[in-house]
Amino acid sequence: MLILGIETSCDDTAAAVIRNGRETLSSVVSAQDELHAPYGGIVPEMASRMHLEKIDTVVNKALSEAAVSIREIDLIAVTTGPGLVGSLLVGLSYAKGVSFAKDIPLVGVDHIKGHLFSLELADGTPIPSIALVASGGHTALFHLRSRDDIQLVGTTLDDAAGEAMDKAAKLLNLGYPGGPVIQSEARYGDPGALPLPRPLTGTDNLDFSFSGLKTALFTWLKRHGYLDRTSEGRDDLPLSIPDIAASFQEAVVDVLVIKCRQAVEAFEVGHLFIAGGVARNEPLRKRVVQAAKEDGFRVHLPPPELCTDNAAMIAACGFHSKNEASTDILDLNAYSTKALGIKGPLKRGRSA
Ligand code: KG4
Ligand code: ZN
Repeated sequence: MLILGIETSCDDTAAAVIRNGRETLSSVVSAQDELHAPYGGIVPEMASRMHLEKIDTVVNKALSEAAVSIREIDLIAVTTGPGLVGSLLVGLSYAKGVSFAKDIPLVGVDHIKGHLFSLELADGTPIPSIALVASGGHTALFHLRSRDDIQLVGTTLDDAAGEAMDKAAKLLNLGYPGGPVIQSEARYGDPGALPLPRPLTGTDNLDFSFSGLKTALFTWLKRHGYLDRTSEGRDDLPLSIPDIAASFQEAVVDVLVIKCRQAVEAFEVGHLFIAGGVARNEPLRKRVVQAAKEDGFRVHLPPPELCTDNAAMIAACGFHSKNEASTDILDLNAYSTKALGIKGPLKRGRSA
């Protein structure tokens, strides 16, 4: 079975062709980082306009790299949410158009569930397991009892981990997206230089909170006059930018690792996997491997290109939901809701 995946939930225009839910034939991602960099975050209206410009080229590139024609595609899987509705509608309308014109069944895919299926295209999804999805829009922990029984067991009460990195990078004038630049600055810094909180740790609670961390950084920078200075006057901080970046990264990674360990223990599973853009973070990857050794569970890390947004994971998830596919597609709509409002089989709660 050949599946065409289409993903436009945020600022990446992505299309992929996969075979039988496991084999990637092509995966094309057109990122918009440069477009949004001057603003230190995504400008939704610009993102959807850029999707509109790119979508046809990206889909055709995915088909040609896979050496298949659209007539050979058996199923189209498209992200319907959560995300920026203007962005989602570009991919969804395009997918509907192709589905209607070529009479190909279409299935809508939840973006976060897509991240949970990223390992299908690598070593396979470990079941039962705990999965952390940490990205720019979401930070949540899931208990996977089967591919059809996925429980949301913890989520962020405010900012996502990636969003916190992006906001910290913006405060430090490091550019966008923040995660990679914070990681690269942090290489030369001391992670213990700036004491920052580890919010919501030290309890049984599996929820996250990252907005206080950002506020702590903001307050410290303000106290030292950094935010009021022009670029020339920013050199006399008591700590270097690498020290601050390393300290911030360490705080985010600490919280993520603590909660992952807690969830693995609470649900008595032998496997943990991490997904989403923040799962590309090298210190996080090292720390979960270390934690797995200490606590005696197995850890599974998707290759970096499967962590950040891509359409191959959407196609893999669509393959799994192929029974819900239809050519009667007019009712399929986009939704913006975050992790707590996840639709379909993702439900919050602790199962026995
Ligand atoms: O999964 P993703 O591509 O998009 C969303 O679904 O949000 O994740 C993007 C997020 C951004 O916040 C970005 O700063 C973060 O992932 N990110 C990283 C790294 N690479 C990307 N965060 C930490 N370390 C990285 N190396
Ligand atoms: Zn994502």
